[in-house]
This record gives sequence, structure tokens and C-alpha cells, in this order.
Amino acid sequence: MKKLLFVFVTILLSSSLFSQENLPKDQLTPGFHKGRREAFRQLMPSGSIALIFAYPERTFSKDVDHLYHQNPDLYYLTGYKEPDGLLIIFKDKQGKGDTAYNEVLFVRKRDPRMEIWTGRRLGVEGAKSTLGIAKVLEGKDFPSFPLDLKSFTKVIAEPIQNDVRTDKSGYDLYGLMQAAEKKGLKTSDDNGAGEYANYLANNFDFSNLHMAKEYSNKLIKKNNSWEDNKDLLELLNSQDSVSYERTKARILANPSGTHIYNDIVKTLREIKTPEELDLIRKSARISALAHAESMKAIKPEMSERQAEAIHTYVHKYYGAEGEGYPPISGVGANGCILHYEENNSIRLDNQLLLMDIASEYHGYSADVTRTVPGNGKFSPEQKAIYQLVYDAQDAAISLCREGGSFAKVEKKASQILSEGLIRLGIIKNASDVSKYYPHGCSHYIGLDVHDQGHYEGLKANMVITVEPGIYIPANSPCDKKWWNIGVRIEDDVLITKTGHEILSADAPRKWQDVEKKASEKSSFKSISLPKL
Ligand code: GLY
Ligand code: MN
Ligand code: MN
Repeated sequence: MKKLLFVFVTILLSSSLFSQENLPKDQLTPGFHKGRREAFRQLMPSGSIALIFAYPERTFSKDVDHLYHQNPDLYYLTGYKEPDGLLIIFKDKQGKGDTAYNEVLFVRKRDPRMEIWTGRRLGVEGAKSTLGIAKVLEGKDFPSFPLDLKSFTKVIAEPIQNDVRTDKSGYDLYGLMQAAEKKGLKTSDDNGAGEYANYLANNFDFSNLHMAKEYSNKLIKKNNSWEDNKDLLELLNSQDSVSYERTKARILANPSGTHIYNDIVKTLREIKTPEELDLIRKSARISALAHAESMKAIKPEMSERQAEAIHTYVHKYYGAEGEGYPPISGVGANGCILHYEENNSIRLDNQLLLMDIASEYHGYSADVTRTVPGNGKFSPEQKAIYQLVYDAQDAAISLCREGGSFAKVEKKASQILSEGLIRLGIIKNASDVSKYYPHGCSHYIGLDVHDQGHYEGLKANMVITVEPGIYIPANSPCDKKWWNIGVRIEDDVLITKTGHEILSADAPRKWQDVEKKASEKSSFKSISLPKL
């Protein structure tokens, strides 16, 4: 009787009760992910194999986990959103005839009783039908899956992580990684030294090696084990260009599996497909609309967290799952802390509020910053700094087009900021600009907020941020009228063949437009909740 009841409950739970209705219609399709796997396979060296693991689950408190976030690479290649997964891509077909395969996805098994607690699982059949992947097995089948990694020309994978927890089942992520190690997957025993040697060989010649020396020696000092990497030391200690080129050729002829993995991922993910652009457009627009709403609602007696909450409400209102990174809502001195995340100041007063907040929409993160005075009106000093950052951003954006480069965008922003700071009497020498502008101007966005890419020339269908800023903390060596002014303006820019498109343009950017928006009526201002 008990057994019958269990079977009945299992059938009930695995069918109608667990199917989902009314899901968003604009998710990436199985066809998209299949296309990405094909593109990945194209770039693999002949006779190689690639392993892509799910991200680990992380503890939030005792028996509660952080909201799970999939490894963006695995999501990109499969659409699988659950933990304890592993995708294997083979360059060549394995086996013969009808049963031949060139990819396998290992997934969590269905567990109706657990699914009542922790949510739906696709399981093998669900993964086949929902993700459109032909060969799907349960994680528990991986240890016995016939696979000798030593028989492949290259094993393309990130190093196995050593901080993954285990449920001791033997086939959670930890179990999958251990089984992979038994099959020949290497842990990163050189602690990244080989990867760094590859980077140097790829990016430097003997003539400009001196530019990398000081930084490289610092890294070697920091990572003791790097002193054991023969390639790296030989490269850095080359006495002439002939010996440098010889070592470089040797390193480049035999790149590590990790290097190949990163190279493929960067090549694919830096150029967005039309399906990805649709989602990034939405994410950027939603984030920009949230910034516009927060501008309308701003008032001196508002808290940093209340400002943040307007963004998160608007994101979810438009269907975003959440934010692409922890929201930064910092007023005055807090706005001068680049990655301020406490957001616990209870009043804005008339100081500048720097909001670096953006949504993650179906996996794709935008990255938008606006800086707004708490009372809706810039003071003369706030306005001077804001206008300078605006000018730097506008000039940098004008260089965004196919054929441009990150280096040119970076240089332009830095040049305008340094000239402006000298003009305002805040610095004396252009080289001091980094004191008040200590970060870069641009990065890719996508499935990661700091997305993967080679950071070389700009090409059509890349999406990058342009985000100069100036931060003048109290006690800086300048007139104290400038203290505690922190301004960043950050937009998401699509590179096109002929120029660019600002995807976050719905958030006002000119100081006049910010003030105008701040004077508009806000629905959030009329929200009235009981006093605590
Ligand atoms: N929000 C992180 C960044 O701007 O890079
Ligand atoms: Mn950014
Ligand atoms: Mn940002």
C-alpha cells in the first residue's frame, strides 16, 4: 500500500503539478544554445574534449543557500539552470552509427520529494525535451561513463575548483569533479602560472616586455609556486629577442587546456547574436527606466535603500529576474567608494546620490550608473564635476564604432578628465588623474556584468559600458568645497558597423535633463505605508 501510494505521488508530482504555465515567451531557445555548442566545437582543436561544470551552490546562512546562479558558460551552451550539471563537448563524434554522439549533458535526477522543497528539476527527460539535447544522463552515471581524458589531444576546461562543498552523494558537483579528476582532468597545479605565461606570450614582444616586467615580478612574489614555472621565468628573463621568440613559440604551440577554454569563450561571447541583443536591449532599457523613475522619486529625506528599492521594483515589474550585480546606492562620501554595497545611509539631504544599479534579464546583465542630487538641483561644485564626467563620457562614446578600440576609448576619457581636473585646480599634473579616477572606462556586458572578451578592437555587435567617474573623498588634497563629491555616468553602448547605439538612453544623462526628470511627478512619492 505504502509503495503504491509512493508511486502515485511520484507520478502526480512529476507530471501535471510540476509543469509550469505562463512563462516568459522571450527566453533563449534550444536552437540558440545548440548553435552556440556548434560554434564552440568549431573552435576546438582536432581530437579535443571540453568539460563545462555548473557553478557550485553557496551558503547564505546555516541551512539556507544564496539564490542559485548558473555558470554563464554552461547556460550559454545549454540553457540548463540547475546546479550539479556537467556538459561535455567532443570535437569528433564518439562511437558509431545511430548511437554516435558528440555532446553529453549530465544533470540532477528528478526527486519529487526534494522538488517539493527546493523546486522543479528537469531531470533527464525534461532536459532532452526542454533543452533539445539528445544525450542526457544523470550525474550518478558519470563516474562509470567510459571516458579516458588522456586519450584526447587537449582537455579544454577551467581548473577544478577546490572550494566546492559536497553532499557526499558522490554525484553532486563535488562528485562530478572528483570523477573527472579520476578520468584525468587536472587540478590547477600551477596556480595559474601557465595561463599567465600564455598571456605574456600572446601580448608582448621582446621590445615591449619591459612594460610587463614590474607587474609580472609582483605577481611572482605574490604566488610562490609561480617560481617553479619554467616557461614563465624563461620568458621574463629572456636576454635577447631571439631567445624570447623561441620561448614564446614553444608556449604558443602548446597552450594549456584552460587557455584554450578561455580563448574560445572570449571569442564567442564578445560578439552578441541577435537573440542575445534582444535580451541585452531589454535589460538596458529596463535599467534605464528604473533610473528615470528613481530620479523622479528622489528627495532629501529618502534613504539609500529606498532609492535602491525603486530600481529593484521596476526591474521586476518589467520581468527581470533580479540585478546583474549587487546594487550600489551611495550618497556623498559613500558615492566615493567604488563598490559600496551597504546602502544604509538613511538620508540623502542635498548630497549627490550615485546609483550603479542594473537588471539581469533572462541571464543578461545591463550596467547603468546615474548620479543625482538628493534635492534634485546640482550645486555649482556638483555641476562642475558632473559636467566634466559627462564631457569625458560623451567624447569616449563618440569613439565607439567598429574599428575603434578599448584603448582609444580609455585614453580619451582619461585625457578629458585630467584636463578638466587641472582646469578646476583639483590636480596639477595629468598623471594625478588616477587619484580621482582610479578605474577603467569600459568593459563588455552580457551574461556576466564584466563579460568575457579579448579586449582588443571594437567590432559590430559587441556591447560595452562607457563609464568615466570622478571621486573626491574628504581630506583629499584639494579645496574642501570638492570633498565628498562622487560622480559616475555609465551607459551601455552597442557597437555597430557605422557607429553605436546607446541602449540605456532612457535614463537622462545631461545635468539639465536630470534636474528636469527630478522635478517630474513620481508615483513612488505618493506611496504611503504605516509608520513602524
Ligand atoms: N557595476 C560594476 C561596474 O560598473 O563595473
Ligand atoms: Mn561597469
Ligand atoms: Mn556599473
